[in-house]
Amino acid sequence: MADKDGLKVAKDYHLDAPFANEGGFYVKGAGNLDWGMKKHLSNIFDPKSGNTVMFAFDHGYFMGSTAGLERLDLVIPPLIPYVDVLMGTRGALRTCVPPENRKGIALRVTSGSSMLNDDLSHECLAVDLEDAIRMNADCMAVQTFIGADGQLSSLENLSRCINEAMRYSIPVMGVVAVGKDMERTDRFFKLATRILAELGANIIKTYYCENFEEIIAACPVPIVVAGGKKLPENEAMTLAYNSIKGGAKGVDMGRNIFQSNHPVEMAQSIRKIVHEGYTDKEAFEYFTDLINK
Ligand code: 5RP
Repeated sequence: MADKDGLKVAKDYHLDAPFANEGGFYVKGAGNLDWGMKKHLSNIFDPKSGNTVMFAFDHGYFMGSTAGLERLDLVIPPLIPYVDVLMGTRGALRTCVPPENRKGIALRVTSGSSMLNDDLSHECLAVDLEDAIRMNADCMAVQTFIGADGQLSSLENLSRCINEAMRYSIPVMGVVAVGKDMERTDRFFKLATRILAELGANIIKTYYCENFEEIIAACPVPIVVAGGKKLPENEAMTLAYNSIKGGAKGVDMGRNIFQSNHPVEMAQSIRKIVHEGYTDKEAFEYFTDLINK
C-alpha cells in the first residue's frame, strides 16, 4: 500500500477526453467482459441510449413499509412498462412482481440493519449466488459504507459477491451509502465510487453532487444516480437532467417515483430525460400535460 505521506490531490480529470473504452462494447469498462456479463448489462443499459431508468423499491429491506410502498403488489405493476430495471429484494420480487415481466432485475443482496439501529453500516451478504441465478438477476446490488464503522465488512461483502458472481457472469452493482457521518461532498463520492470500481464492481450507484463530471471521469464503470429523498417533481427532474448531463448512465429512483401523486407519469417523464434527451423543463412540461389530460 502506498504510504499516505506526500499524497498529491488528484486534479486533472481530462474532462474533454471520452473514456478510452477497451473492446468497444457500449457499456463503460465492460469491453473485456464475457458474453454473459454483456448480456446482463444490456438488460440494464438500453443499447440505443446507453442509459437506464431503474425503479427502486428495495427500501423495505431496512425501512419496513415506507410511505408510498405500503402495498408493493399495487404500486409496482403499473410502473413496470415505464422503467428498464426493477431494483428490489427477493421477497418483493417473488411475491409482488409478475415473473413474465421483461425488465432487468437489480437484486438487493445485502441486509442486516433496520431503522431501529443507529449505525446502519453493518450488513451481511444475505442472498447467495444460487438464489441470484434462480431470480435471473441482471446484477447483484451490494451496499457499501465507506468511512463508516462497517467499512471493512461492507467491502468484504462486495468483494465476496464479485468473486462469486464473476464465476457465473452476473454483474455486481456497488451501492454507495451516505450515512449521517458521511459527508455528501465530491471528495467523498470520488473516493467511494473509485474504491468500488477498483474492487471490481461493474456498476456504481451513488448520489449527484458538485463537480459530478469529475466523479464520472474518474470512475471506469457506469454510474447511476439514486434519487434520494422525495423532491417536488420539477426538482427531481432537474436532478435527473443534471445527472445525465454530467455523465451518469441512468438513475435509480424510488421515492421520487412512488411517493409522487402521479408515479406513472413521473416515471414516463424521467424516461424522457434519460432516454430521449429531454431537458428538465421539457420533461416537467410533458409531466404537466400528462397529469392534466
Ligand atoms: C434504498 C436504496 C434505494 O435503492 C436507493 O436509495 C434509490 O431509492 P431512492 O430514490 O428512494 O433513494 O438503496 O435503501
